[in-house]
Amino acid sequence: MCTNRRPDGHPKGSCGEKGAEALQRDIKSAVAQAGLHHTVRVCARSCIDLCWKGISVAVMPDKAFLGGTTPEDIPALVEALGKPEPISEHAVLREKLVKPEEFDDPARDVVKLGTRRSE
Ligand code: FES
Repeated sequence: MCTNRRPDGHPKGSCGEKGAEALQRDIKSAVAQAGLHHTVRVCARSCIDLCWKGISVAVMPDKAFLGGTTPEDIPALVEALGKPEPISEHAVLREKLVKPEEFDDPARDVVKLGTRRSE
């Protein structure tokens, strides 16, 4: 999950300033308490280029991206991670999925992930 932190007041904002570091620790702890720490890794990483949707979480191998993730999502996230179904099938988390059309930064002239600027 993104824990990138930009300086306060940066126009792009960042998941870090929205509390991503604490959320990452809390999700990691909840995963361990649920006994999932042998199969689920809660990794902190830098920007995944969904800043406007942050706090951003990429769930692999489900190829799912969550946006606007909050501490209130932790129980649903842990429940979903403990099931074999893709996270996109979880009723609560489905609302948090970043839709393909939402991958474009509304504040910049950016192309969709996986394409080139010239396309
Ligand atoms: S700062 Fe979190 S996705 Fe960019």
